[in-house]
Amino acid sequence: MSTEWNEKIQQAKEAFGRLLQEQLERVEVMKAQGDFINYKELKPIIIGVCGGDGIGPAITGQAERILKFLLQDEIASGKVEFRDIEGLTIERRAAEGKAIPDDVLAALKECHVILKGPTTTPRKGDPWPNVESANVAMRKALDLFANVRPVRIPEQGIDWTFYRENTEGAYAVGSKGVHVTEDLGVDFTVVTTQGTERIIRAAFEYARANHKTRVTAVTKANIIKTTDGKFLDIFREIAKEYPEITADDWYIDIMTAKLVDEKRRKDFQVVVLPNLYGDIITDEAAEFQGGVGTAGSANIGKRYAMFEAIHGSAPRMVQEGRDIYADPCSMIRAGAMLLNHIGYTKEADQLYAALDICTVTERKLVMTGRDTGATGAQFADYIMETIEKMKG
Ligand code: IPM
Ligand code: MG
Repeated sequence: MSTEWNEKIQQAKEAFGRLLQEQLERVEVMKAQGDFINYKELKPIIIGVCGGDGIGPAITGQAERILKFLLQDEIASGKVEFRDIEGLTIERRAAEGKAIPDDVLAALKECHVILKGPTTTPRKGDPWPNVESANVAMRKALDLFANVRPVRIPEQGIDWTFYRENTEGAYAVGSKGVHVTEDLGVDFTVVTTQGTERIIRAAFEYARANHKTRVTAVTKANIIKTTDGKFLDIFREIAKEYPEITADDWYIDIMTAKLVDEKRRKDFQVVVLPNLYGDIITDEAAEFQGGVGTAGSANIGKRYAMFEAIHGSAPRMVQEGRDIYADPCSMIRAGAMLLNHIGYTKEADQLYAALDICTVTERKLVMTGRDTGATGAQFADYIMETIEKMKG
């Protein structure tokens, strides 16, 4: 072996050692974690609103207006407080070389739940430095381990809830892979007992509480034997605690195919899966519902929870001056999930019902993403008028 290799291997080992150290420390933090926060005991519940960048501020602002409208009495009585959190923009993140600027993270940590607009994730070749994705960083910093993504198409019998693990897998150290030599690059995927148990338990608990009869795990444990293998083993163990629920497992490749199989896909109910597979398959699933623009997403941890859209920040729409025409539905849906999560289920139901009326049954306004359709503000007004009418 050449000394040149020796040196490179040594450096790679050191980098790997640091990653292992960090991950073991994370395990200790997870072990020490208490139970889920109880929103009923909080006064006020603090809702942070973080617009993000690109079309983020435009669509998040509309969702915020609707939430404030639905919670007006709670705001007046001091039960709920809204806080605007500025500064989670790609410009600031790039200038500071940080996924989340320190003051923004500190402000986020003073909230209980967060409504977050999309943020730009730099990739190779972009004008931005290679800062870590703000989404991924926030999920890690606030330990938002359960990424819950519902997809519902009642007329096709589809009612899926994806429980995507949100802090581990290929994402845990996704921005810390090692270029061992010019020719050899290595990334790492991480699984822990604690991280896997909590997501799988969350999926089964959700199934039990919502009278679902089936939980499906998705892995590639036949090939990725250590990490996916561990995920699957833990799934099978925990499944025994829920004898009333059918637990089955699929490999990600065939699962991706089965989601387009109209006869079989109706059978899936709750699906639990490692981070990267969850990322991929939830985009596929959202596409059946009308595209990623229609889906909201909850990122839930024991202390914090964050609600967002599953699509990107569409910078081109802003460059072309079209951000006011961006469809806020995904953020409004995220807002409905937020309401549900903090216990305002009646308000959440009203919002879901209004979304259904405004986007499916009545559809008085149509959004096209340009001046041929309605603006986000007009659409939000339409939603609020619809709720007023429903209340009679
Ligand atoms: C998502 C997105 C993010 C992810 C990106 C923007 C980092 O695709 O929320 O699914 O990969 O998790
Ligand atoms: Mg995604």
